[in-house]
Amino acid sequence: MRAQLMFNAKGFGQFGFFAFALVFTSFVSLYLYQIKTFAPVNQRSFGRRVFTPNISTDGTLKYGARSDVKTSTPWKAPIIWEGMFNPELYDEEHKKHMSSVALTVFAVGKYLDAYLHNFLVSAEVHFMSGLPVTYYIFTDLPESVPKMKLGPRRNLKVIKVEKYSRWQDISMMRMKFISELIDTEISYHFPYVYCLDVDQVFKARFGSEALGESVAMLHSYFYDRPESAFTYDKNPKSKAYMTTGDFYYHAAVFGGSWQNVKALVDECYLGIMEDKLNGVEALWHDESHLNKFFWVNKPTRLLSPEYCWDEKIGGRSEIKIMRLIWAEKHYDTLRT
Ligand code: UDP
Ligand code: GAL
Ligand code: MN
Repeated sequence: MRAQLMFNAKGFGQFGFFAFALVFTSFVSLYLYQIKTFAPVNQRSFGRRVFTPNISTDGTLKYGARSDVKTSTPWKAPIIWEGMFNPELYDEEHKKHMSSVALTVFAVGKYLDAYLHNFLVSAEVHFMSGLPVTYYIFTDLPESVPKMKLGPRRNLKVIKVEKYSRWQDISMMRMKFISELIDTEISYHFPYVYCLDVDQVFKARFGSEALGESVAMLHSYFYDRPESAFTYDKNPKSKAYMTTGDFYYHAAVFGGSWQNVKALVDECYLGIMEDKLNGVEALWHDESHLNKFFWVNKPTRLLSPEYCWDEKIGGRSEIKIMRLIWAEKHYDTLRT
């Protein structure tokens, strides 16, 4: 009897210990979770970063639907043209996997008044419609960012940056600021990042079919030109130097998973800074470094020039739809 009682007491003691341990660890993990959630973004040193969902919709792409153009690269990455994809299937799959997109855009100096309003108004209608999107506006003039009513699950954040005196530096240093924002904020919330020039206007769907691991844009002036016409940086002293390549990509549009975009912007920024130390500047600035990066690290998805067209080129039978178009450039008055 006495032995039986002792056994029960011992059993309860063990149970009590495990229950206590369970409650204790739950509290500790909850506490750590709270710290992570409420810490200011620029102080987060740990926490849960988001991962890119596994999207299987590319299996439905119709590569033969456009016999007039190249629909895949030699390394089998799709080149997205109108008619190849079913937009509903992409939207459905991305919604199922809760995809969301961070869009970075710079509006520094006179570019803010000249372009930002039309860019944002048109993005609200056409850019990743139906998905959560946060616009990250980098500017030296935060108070001049237009107050806009945004759609559901769409947000806008303003980040103040200094204005470099040379326009070339305003363009190139985007790589540094984007890298920092991916580290401090984007990687915690968004599987996908898109980085766009502000001097453009959306005209038609620019949707979830354009999401992928590593996305490059075919430059509208070079997609149908021979390699010899590509304006790569041909100065062996620059880190962007290249004599041969696959395509000529346009730096006005690039994107991908935050991991790949981070790798791209870091590599370009390093190249830009090393060039500065060596007293050289690549022919087309950040775009030259971007072309070098995509030559070494092949993009997994290419966008046809339907996704970034200059109307000055005029009509082309293969451009079935203009999704994003170049705005008028006024370099003489806007670049200071
Ligand atoms: N930019 C800016 N202010 C400037 C120059 C450039 O905000 O004074 C940003 C803006 O987002 C712009 C991008 O850098 O779209 C690239 O510069 P730009 O469009 O002038 O280059 P282009 O496309 O004409 O080569
Ligand atoms: C121009 C464009 C520049 C740069 C250049 C490359 O048409 O305006 O931004 O991309 O092509 O050659
Ligand atoms: Mn531009």
